[in-house]
Amino acid sequence: MQNTRQRSHTERSSTLKAVPFFTQLTERELDVVRSVATEKQYPKNAVVLTEGEMGDSLYMIQSGKVKVFIGDQDGREMILKLLGPGDFFGEMSMIDKQPRSASVTTLEGSVFLVMSHSSFEKCIEQVPRIATIVMRILAQRVREADKKIGTLALMDVYGRVASTLLELAVVDNGKMMVSEKLSQQDLANMVGASREMVNRILKDLSDRGFISVESKSITIINRELPPSL
Ligand code: CMP
Repeated sequence: MQNTRQRSHTERSSTLKAVPFFTQLTERELDVVRSVATEKQYPKNAVVLTEGEMGDSLYMIQSGKVKVFIGDQDGREMILKLLGPGDFFGEMSMIDKQPRSASVTTLEGSVFLVMSHSSFEKCIEQVPRIATIVMRILAQRVREADKKIGTLALMDVYGRVASTLLELAVVDNGKMMVSEKLSQQDLANMVGASREMVNRILKDLSDRGFISVESKSITIINRELPPSL
């Protein structure tokens, strides 16, 4: 039987292998990363990062789920992204040492591997091509952000709900499902609309046979979701 240390080493290894930053690294290079990351656990609904605060650590999600969002003074929020195991966040402030661009809270109990700016620099000294991998990932983030801007600017709420459902859906047992534990308010916060509006659109999509809404999931029956009413 593995002892705790071995198990934790194996878990870290598989986490790092799953994080896009590190998938292309060799075992020896991964060892360098592993040696500088520390593990942190958070309960459900914990604030991990707060928009506007200083911080210089990168978080790799070993287990759990988080939401990345920006908010205003009235408590309204726009969810930018949901992230799960193998994803990472906090890379922007780690790299440019500017305040956090968004807040991050846990949607369930989560375990992260955390790396500070100085640890990251040590990694780059020893494994210079990490810098190239980082650039690639940042380019990907900008692409996704461009897509989101396009969706918000060019589609009406109906289309935004439809495209968000398709973005979140995964194939499970041959069915295309959105099984994130998302409330209608969360969905509304992802598309920049009111909960009531999202509720009406989901009902309409369901009445027209495009989706079926169960208590904890939404099944996409016909993936040609209409972009408008
Ligand atoms: P940082 O600015 O350090 O802290 C907040 C983090 O949220 C940020 O790094 C990114 O990791 C993450 N983040 C910000 N904007 C987006 C986005 N549009 N999509 C995914 N993640 C984001």
